Amino acid sequence: MLKLTDNDFERLVTYMKKTYGINLDKKRVLIEGRLSNMISARGFKSFKEYIDFAFADKTGNETMQLVNKLTTNHTFFMREPEHFQYLKKAILPYFEKQNAATRTLDLWCAASSTGQEPYTIVMTIDDYFGANAARWKVNLLATDLDTDVLAKAKAGVYTIDMMKDVPKEWLAKYFTKIDATTYKVIDRLRNQITFKQFNLMNNITDRKNYDLISCRNVMIYFEQETKNALVERFYDVTKEGGYLFTGHAESVGRDTRYTYVQPAVYRKISNKPDAGKGRLSGSTVSGGIARK
Ligand SMILES: C[S@@+](CC[C@H](N)C(=O)[O-])C[C@H]1O[C@@H](n2cnc3c(N)ncnc32)[C@H](O)[C@@H]1O
Repeated sequence: MLKLTDNDFERLVTYMKKTYGINLDKKRVLIEGRLSNMISARGFKSFKEYIDFAFADKTGNETMQLVNKLTTNHTFFMREPEHFQYLKKAILPYFEKQNAATRTLDLWCAASSTGQEPYTIVMTIDDYFGANAARWKVNLLATDLDTDVLAKAKAGVYTIDMMKDVPKEWLAKYFTKIDATTYKVIDRLRNQITFKQFNLMNNITDRKNYDLISCRNVMIYFEQETKNALVERFYDVTKEGGYLFTGHAESVGRDTRYTYVQPAVYRKISNKPDAGKGRLSGSTVSGGIARK
């Protein structure tokens, strides 16, 4: 296996942190493990040779391949089910009334990986509305940095072992069986989702206001300052009364303008008496638990 020199490790860590917010300071072994074979197979003699080549490529294709290798894409259907229970119990009943005139829901899944999370969201919504589902227009924007996972998400094809947490009746309702071990999400739900590449370090130029933004299990790779700034960018495109989901292991800074609702759930309520400040002044929310 090829070994990284201190200098090349530093170059990669700096590039990933500066461009994508991903902190790989302690991930030397991971970087070597994920890149070494590909670099040798392509005929490069060292990390330096490959990094020089990738950084010099003006098309950006090489760095994109590099980034696709270095992102961690682990995900599964129904992950952190408390979010989907809360969506069904509180968020959908609220927006069913609030958006009754337009019968439209605007949602953003901001680190969608191979698609299990955005599909779980649209399935939860469809299941909630039941016979009325066709009367509602669900627009879910699903974004990720990694173009390989976006392609998989868009295809919506999963093997049976990836679906052990999907309720039986959902398997029948929301998937088409392709063969003995492979299933595909039905077109009606796939058509509710727009998959798009987006780097969470960039400004959000889309001025749409979302009823729900779900950004789970990606901020864990970011430094606190990066995380805080991202959460405030989300706030600016959250509808009044709308929600933010984070991963349960992720902490949101105490100065957020969002109001804490329950672990890993936040809400935009800007006309509250202490608007403009985190609700938990003097404390930090870590995984939703207030710590003094
Ligand atoms: C561990 S997965 C989480 C997937 C899903 N949200 C979940 O909770 O199961 C993290 C995803 O974040 C993406 N990611 C990492 N940095 C990103 C960035 N700067 N902008 C957008 N997506 C990013 C990765 O490509 C990866 O697919």
